[in-house]
Amino acid sequence: MNSKEQKVLVSSFEKEVSEGLTAFPKYLSSKFFYDEIGDELFQQIMELPEYYLTRAEYEIFETHKSSIIQNFDKSNGGFDLIELGAGDGKKTKVLLEELVRQNHDFIYSPIDISQNAIDGLVRNLNLEMPNVTVQGQIGEYFEVLDRLKHMNDRKKVIMVLGSNIGNLLHSRAIQFLKKLCNAMNDGDLLFIGFDQKKHPQKVLDAYNDKTGVTAAFNKNILARINKELNGNFDLDKFMHWETYDPESGTAKSYLVSKEKQTVDIDCLSLQVHFEAWESIHTEISQKYDDDIVKWLAKEAGLKIVKSFSDQNNDYKDYLITKEK
Ligand code: AVJ
Repeated sequence: MNSKEQKVLVSSFEKEVSEGLTAFPKYLSSKFFYDEIGDELFQQIMELPEYYLTRAEYEIFETHKSSIIQNFDKSNGGFDLIELGAGDGKKTKVLLEELVRQNHDFIYSPIDISQNAIDGLVRNLNLEMPNVTVQGQIGEYFEVLDRLKHMNDRKKVIMVLGSNIGNLLHSRAIQFLKKLCNAMNDGDLLFIGFDQKKHPQKVLDAYNDKTGVTAAFNKNILARINKELNGNFDLDKFMHWETYDPESGTAKSYLVSKEKQTVDIDCLSLQVHFEAWESIHTEISQKYDDDIVKWLAKEAGLKIVKSFSDQNNDYKDYLITKEK
């Protein structure tokens, strides 16, 4: 990231923190979880026994890789494989290996807001899979999508894995899918993961692990405010709280103030007052079923072609095209 882009990101952090902490009820965006420490904590989350999502998607790829790939490149004409929110690419490697094994002509373009994640992934792939052409890009989803539209006219397969779309409320998910639709040509594909509705306790446990990694991940947003905006949050005076509403399918994360307190954020010249047990809403992790995914797709001018699920039906990846 160059220093100008860095500044834009910093100032959006400042702006959104001051907006969210002066609003009622208070909120902060989960996109700010991911600095170097947040990336590392998320890595740990993916290893947790409670966090089934990553393993379920991995199982789907291992089980259905040849069918998935066959759908990516039906005419064998070559394509660009673009991954939004690539992270560490561990699951994607299963597909990349199969693509190489079957001699498909493709380039892999991972995109993430974390410079740190992209640098690590590109370095790792250059070492482990030297046959794959990798073009990493840094950026936020919405901004990168505009860039994608003007890329080239090779077939595109856009991947959004990990149920990352679950951080968006339905209205914003539709906006996001519309933008994707706009960046796609007829014949292009969207390959996208949606975590499914399931036993509510299983969802709650996934976001409320016994070892407290998810709590640390959630609180990292306060640690970032302390570090980057010269704040004085006492992390021990807040607790992580998770809810899941099986009707809406929405899991929500909060940070709850354990006592009445005032926090200073020097860089924003801001004093933030908390009543005892007042909350900051930090994240939603939406759960879906086929009908909801079908509806979201339709609203965005897209349609489902096929879906792949794990044995438990905990998680699904959908192949989606433009409706026409
Ligand atoms: C990366 C957004 C899919 O919501 O499941 C994990 C992030 N938050 N544990 C999710 C997360 C708490 C994760 N996503």
